[in-house]
Amino acid sequence: MDIDPQTLTIDPSKIAGKITPKTKAVIPVHLYGQCADMGPILELAEAKRLFVIEDAAQALGAQYRSDVKPHANGKVWKAGQMGHFGCFSFFPTKNLGAFGDAGMVVTRDPGLAERVRLLRVHGSRPKYHHKEIGINSRLDTLQAAILLVKFKYLEKWTEERRKKAERYQVLLRDVASVLPGFDLPVTRNGSRHIYHQYVIRVPERDRLRSFLQEEGVGTEIYYPVPLHLQECYAFLGWRRGDFPVSEKAADEVLALPIYPELQENEQDYVVDRIRAFYNR
Ligand SMILES: Cc1ncc(COP(=O)(O)O)c(C=O)c1O
Repeated sequence: MDIDPQTLTIDPSKIAGKITPKTKAVIPVHLYGQCADMGPILELAEAKRLFVIEDAAQALGAQYRSDVKPHANGKVWKAGQMGHFGCFSFFPTKNLGAFGDAGMVVTRDPGLAERVRLLRVHGSRPKYHHKEIGINSRLDTLQAAILLVKFKYLEKWTEERRKKAERYQVLLRDVASVLPGFDLPVTRNGSRHIYHQYVIRVPERDRLRSFLQEEGVGTEIYYPVPLHLQECYAFLGWRRGDFPVSEKAADEVLALPIYPELQENEQDYVVDRIRAFYNR
């Protein structure tokens, strides 16, 4: 189903209409480091008895509500802790990155935790006796050791990212206010965005990207092709025009450099080159 045009996370108002007797779960993606609109999603899932599996791969440390106490009304509003499962990625480019592939699934339910543990090792328990067809998804010890060291710095790195994102917002505000279709990222009120990516939207995205590349500014597109138009899902029969908000976003999004060590002069250069492109 389609996404919310401002945050690019799943549009909760579109979920109910898609539920069929075969539906088992909702998988909201906390894109770019911002939580999906979890309030209505959790309510709907509870009413319809659906599992909620949070894709928190980009959102370790993000909060849907940061304006209330962490455990307000018995609810936890942190990315990965709101649904039945939270899935995190420690791929090297993530905010907490290992030196190779790694990830984590969290759940509060001991039964579900056991099931995931079993599936992680080919469904094997005791060893070489397979209760279920599982996968090989072990976190190797070397990656775990690296992550344990880096984890101590995560909060500091996150705050650095947030500061840099706030600085982009200030430096680019006037450009965004005069150029039609030049949009800065929107953060949901009362939430905590952890800026895995700082993503602007511009109609002339590809030309701006080429210009920035020539000027020595690296950018990236997350993501150029929406899921329903991926070759591997062609068998589902979706066509261009079926998810217009996602399609427009795929044509316009551009991630600017953001990482904890980004220096102010480097950030000024990025902004200066964007201004140069627009003669502003
Ligand atoms: C939103 C999102 N979901 C899922 C994944 C997959 O994570 P991994 O590559 O660790 O399997 C990623 C990262 O690649 C991601 O950004």
